[in-house]
Amino acid sequence: MLTSIKTNSFAGSKTKELGMMYFRVAIILFGAQLVMGLIAAIQFLAPGFLFELFDFSVARMVHINALVVWMLYAMIGSTYYMLSDETEHEGIGIGLGKLGFWVLTAAVTVVVLVYIFVQVGSGTEASIWLIHEGREYIEAPRWADIGIVVVVLIFYWNVFATYMAGRQTGIMTVMVANLLALAGLYVAGMFFTDNISMDQFWWWWVIHLWVEATWEVFVGTLAAYALIRLIGAKREIVEMWLWIEVLMLFGSGVLGMGHHYFWIGTPEYWWEIGALFSALEPVPLIAMFVHVLYDWGKEQGIAAAKGETKNVITNGPAMAWIVTNAFGNFLGAGIWGFFHTLPQVNIYTHGTQFTAAHGHLSFFGAYATILIGMMYVGIQGAYGLERMKATFKSKMGIVLITFGVMGMTIALTIAGYEQVLVERAELGATWSGFFVAQELPWYVQAQLWRTIMGVVTFVGFIYLVWDLLTIGSKAKKAQA
Ligand code: HEM
Ligand code: HEM
Ligand SMILES: [Fe+2]
Repeated sequence: MLTSIKTNSFAGSKTKELGMMYFRVAIILFGAQLVMGLIAAIQFLAPGFLFELFDFSVARMVHINALVVWMLYAMIGSTYYMLSDETEHEGIGIGLGKLGFWVLTAAVTVVVLVYIFVQVGSGTEASIWLIHEGREYIEAPRWADIGIVVVVLIFYWNVFATYMAGRQTGIMTVMVANLLALAGLYVAGMFFTDNISMDQFWWWWVIHLWVEATWEVFVGTLAAYALIRLIGAKREIVEMWLWIEVLMLFGSGVLGMGHHYFWIGTPEYWWEIGALFSALEPVPLIAMFVHVLYDWGKEQGIAAAKGETKNVITNGPAMAWIVTNAFGNFLGAGIWGFFHTLPQVNIYTHGTQFTAAHGHLSFFGAYATILIGMMYVGIQGAYGLERMKATFKSKMGIVLITFGVMGMTIALTIAGYEQVLVERAELGATWSGFFVAQELPWYVQAQLWRTIMGVVTFVGFIYLVWDLLTIGSKAKKAQA
């Protein structure tokens, strides 16, 4: 993929080139995320590992912030990538968009270096401005927050102006409206209050309304675009599904936010609201799952009926990741989310390793998968390939990463249940119970297995990067 800087054959599409630039940074940050996760996982087993040099709190913070940032990069990359195809119009203001990319990337680099080398501040106002904010997942310090808003405004203007000037498809209409909500929500996590309940109240507006509303709708638009491109699905059908998904996702996901308002000091009516609406959240995820498989089966069936023997899929690895997304979104968010979403259950599972199990499978299943798929779509375009088949490395990448994350999830689920039984049910959620539960063999072995599965994930990641770097030029040579 790095070499595609030279081999981009987008016929002069600067918009797509800019998309690829975002993909490149995304994959580097994904690697950084995994390294941090491995450090944090080792610290569960050997608490003295890097003690006072690079503490668990720091490794964990960089792990999950890198996660959010790489996904946002890949989302911006995907949007630029599909923009000119969907609107049939070259992106407007892309020169400024490129400048925005460099400003953002320089800022992200500084922020990450500060996280790693400065780590913690004095706890004064200056720490919030210069080091980090202490808000899980979105720790960027104030100065960077403001910079992010400026760059996102440029990005949004690129998308909106191009949309207004070009073809206005259903996919792009959803994209433009949804991006406004997605970007606007970021602001809810920016203002400062020293009341922790109020802080958490607004913080969930960003985290929950991102991952269970706007990001999911974003995935809907990506899947719609990808199905048209990869298997030739009919636009009318894909867009009809998309509108239904939008309705169901927002219908359940917005008030579903109540499942985070059970125990933080918010009024008790959130128990009922949160339980009801969040319990409905898996429904659109089932729809998204059915949609992908339905369209795939339908297009292959039509081809077979015409007597064609060839596969309808024009990009093997991208389609494999998108089908993995259909399963992973439903499993990680839908099933693992539903498990602990009722207050009757959540009172026991809240904040245990069960939550971490759900966090891993959902972020991976719902987002990492489809964003990696979009990177493969980008490479196919960059090399001007009509067909791109999975290589041995593509297969090793997807199998090892998926197996690794699934393995981590199962290990964490076991650790979480042990905590529920011992720490919560038996020992009554006491401070000492918290430590007793973490020393029992079920927990310790589960953490060991998580680390082993983390290494498997990491090996898969190396195959993935290797594949992204080579698959395009190899396929191009084979075609010539
Ligand atoms: C792709 C979508 C989703 C993602 C990425 C996601 C991710 C996460 C993450 C990372 C957390 C932990 C937050 C923290 O640090 O405190 C969390 C918590 C939670 N999620 Fe999800 N989630 C998704 C969808 C869902 C769905 C659909 C449901 C319910 C059906 C759900 C139910 C919950 C609940 C109840 C909690 C609170 C856990 C606790 O009390 O400790 N999630 N989610
Ligand atoms: C090399 C593989 C990985 C390892 C070893 C690893 C390890 C860890 C560790 C040790 C934590 C801290 C958990 C805690 O506070 O109890 C964590 C948190 C988290 N990781 Fe990973 N991770 C890996 C890959 C991933 C991937 C691929 C994703 C998603 C795409 C991910 C998403 C998360 C999330 C969302 C959290 C916060 C969970 C929560 O607080 O509920 N990690 N990870
Ligand atoms: Fe939520």
